[in-house]
Amino acid sequence: MDHFLYRDGILYAEDVPLPDIAAAVGTPFYVYSTATLTRHYTVLKDALEGVENLVCFAMKSNSNQAVIAHLASLGAGMDVVSGGEYARAVAAGVPGERIVFSGVGKTAEEMRMALAGGIRQFNVESEPELQMLSAVATSMGKSAPITVRINPDVDAKTHEKISTGKYDDKFGIPISRAREVYAMAARLPGLEVVGIDVHIGSQLTDLAPFELAYAKVVELTHQLRADGHSIRRLDLGGGLGIPYERSNTAPPLPIEYGDLIKRSVAELDVEVEIEPGRLISGNAGLLVASTIYVKHGEGRDFLILDAAMNDLLRPAIYGAWHDIIPVVEPAPGVVQTPYDVVGPVCESGDTFAKQRNLPPVAAGDLVAFRSAGAYGAVMASEYNTRPLIPEVLVKGDQFAVIRRRPTFDEIINRDTVPEWL
Ligand code: LLP
Repeated sequence: MDHFLYRDGILYAEDVPLPDIAAAVGTPFYVYSTATLTRHYTVLKDALEGVENLVCFAMKSNSNQAVIAHLASLGAGMDVVSGGEYARAVAAGVPGERIVFSGVGKTAEEMRMALAGGIRQFNVESEPELQMLSAVATSMGKSAPITVRINPDVDAKTHEKISTGKYDDKFGIPISRAREVYAMAARLPGLEVVGIDVHIGSQLTDLAPFELAYAKVVELTHQLRADGHSIRRLDLGGGLGIPYERSNTAPPLPIEYGDLIKRSVAELDVEVEIEPGRLISGNAGLLVASTIYVKHGEGRDFLILDAAMNDLLRPAIYGAWHDIIPVVEPAPGVVQTPYDVVGPVCESGDTFAKQRNLPPVAAGDLVAFRSAGAYGAVMASEYNTRPLIPEVLVKGDQFAVIRRRPTFDEIINRDTVPEWL
């Protein structure tokens, strides 16, 4: 459920009509709903009630300072995957003990930064990384809390580009070698084993792969405890999918996911962490664009928007579906016609949807892409020197620009022309 609904024929974000935001900031823009963020975080938190837990928001899905600060104020931890994300979490006021550092290629510099600023744990993904972290922590006179991310060899049954738990994916350590890697971790100075980490992929629409992976983690917990390791925390990753297509069947509910987690770890006496990104931020955001032209092509009509692949990359790289709806509610019974919905970038891949049925749209009309709060703004670029678009946060009847659109001069002045040219 989200807080983007029609009222009197106009699409609102909470209590703010979207045309008011468009008039204030120009199009295209991203808009996020505070109430929806709160709702999704709370639903997950409630689903885990009864087991000690920390919900760490995967910042890669949406790392705006205002979004992070809001979630942190509700008690969320953060899952970061770079020095930049760590710095963002700290800048938004997230305490180190609520920041988890994931990622397959952490540098010594990033490790130093997190150890100096405070960190809940590093999720380590390889033996060389263990050695590097041991060296960095020892040189600082610190002990680094760690889990090892295991690769359980489970097919997450999601898009191949966002599946991470098969044996041939680059992530984690094969579960078959987990015991020797934990033994190595125990031998190395400057490391403190606190648990196990697993993350098998993103946009999962079935609980079965989670169940398989968690069963393997539980079995490994028993083995590692028998080997003498203190496994007191399980990081079970993120990845629960969201409904991108309203007319389709919905993925499992957070409550069902929470029940599965609680069932899986019931025998263990452990603290649980999860790292959801999309589930919290995905349906808390829209991308709002304006129609520049409607062009009649050969046997098809093109809706040419002022948003493009550089603003929302998902359709171009994953063939992802985003519902597209008009900001002015169509009259009941209006006949829909198919459009190819495209942006102005000079690539055929700059296509948001082909032959999408929509009510009649005219130049100047506003349209909204649903489910754009995760992996939208964070994956944007300035390709074609199109400025990054603003992000707006709504709370009740208030709205604020939480990242403004840069000017052309700001973009151009980041470049320098060498004197010797
Ligand atoms: N934890 C780890 C270690 C991850 O790699 C990810 C996502 C998450 C948590 C959060 O997953 P979520 O709950 O959001 O599914 N750009 C792609 C998604 C890439 C996800 C990468 N890792 C997309 O737009 O679909």
